[in-house]
Amino acid sequence: MLQPAPFPAARPRRLRQAPWMRAMVAETVLTPADFIWPCFVIDGTDRAEPVASMPGVERLTVDRLVAKAAEARALGIPAVAIFPYTDPAQKTPGAEEAWNPENLVCRATRAVKAEVPGIGVMLDVALDPYNSDGHDGLVRDGEVINDETLLALERQTLAQAEAGADILGPSDMMDGRVGVMRRALEEHEFQNVTIMTYAAKYASAFYGPFRDAVGSGGALKGDKKTYQMDPANTEEALREVAIDLAEGADMVMVKPGMPYLDICQRVASEFRVPTFAYQVSGEYAMLRAAMQNGWLDPRVGMMESLMAFKRAGCSGILTYFALEAAQALKSG
Ligand code: PBG
Repeated sequence: MLQPAPFPAARPRRLRQAPWMRAMVAETVLTPADFIWPCFVIDGTDRAEPVASMPGVERLTVDRLVAKAAEARALGIPAVAIFPYTDPAQKTPGAEEAWNPENLVCRATRAVKAEVPGIGVMLDVALDPYNSDGHDGLVRDGEVINDETLLALERQTLAQAEAGADILGPSDMMDGRVGVMRRALEEHEFQNVTIMTYAAKYASAFYGPFRDAVGSGGALKGDKKTYQMDPANTEEALREVAIDLAEGADMVMVKPGMPYLDICQRVASEFRVPTFAYQVSGEYAMLRAAMQNGWLDPRVGMMESLMAFKRAGCSGILTYFALEAAQALKSG
């Protein structure tokens, strides 16, 4: 007996048939408001220095940085994260430059806040740019010491808040840092300064190019495994997030990004607080190298790598592609 022609009971391809249809059913969108632009500042005027291991990324003098921040703002990027390249002569075992109100990052913050209305400034709270040992904390007898580091981080916090930073990002992974920062901010009438904590920050090979960009790589003695997390762990990341939230963090971050998308997803879904991912320097370098070799479509590859974070549940992404990606979104 003749049967009717078999046909698929479901045809998911119907919803993929045209750009307008795909746009209509897209579950995730990427907008310039999703990006925070990490940038590097150097002393001097009207100068830019390429970062060899991060093609397309430059260290900028404050005046150039202000101009770029204005560009970022015009593209709809809500915030910049400023990192200083510190002259080796200013690095000491006590990292005192970290709370010098006239240090490079404080000067850059004041300039951006004064000249680019409507953009947020985020600064790292950690001693590595200023520490002659290259570590995020103070070192004694070869060990990174927690509680004395907290006192230094408190001074750094206040200097940066005083300079006008809107978001402080403790990236040092010392125990108790968020609580110390929050208390110091409250006591000095900086109630509105937000803390985006690098809560789940892993001891990663993917920070290599960043250490080159800020000039801390050569200084680093040993590794950061006694304070940054073991890449083997997930449950510990959730505990870190819980601690930082209890201590007064407003937003949390997972770092690196792409190799830790599982962590992004679990943090975002279990805590339901604004969760950010840092697509770090090594991820950028890796993608850019493939793009430059013609092995990866620059635009499609960039957008796909960023969309992944939104799909995982992140509120936003710190990415060196921020300006390029915002421009690509604008041009459609
Ligand atoms: C410093 C800091 C690092 C990064 C951001 N803040 C490096 C590190 O912990 O060694 C890495 C960012 C990147 O790789 O893009 N505490």
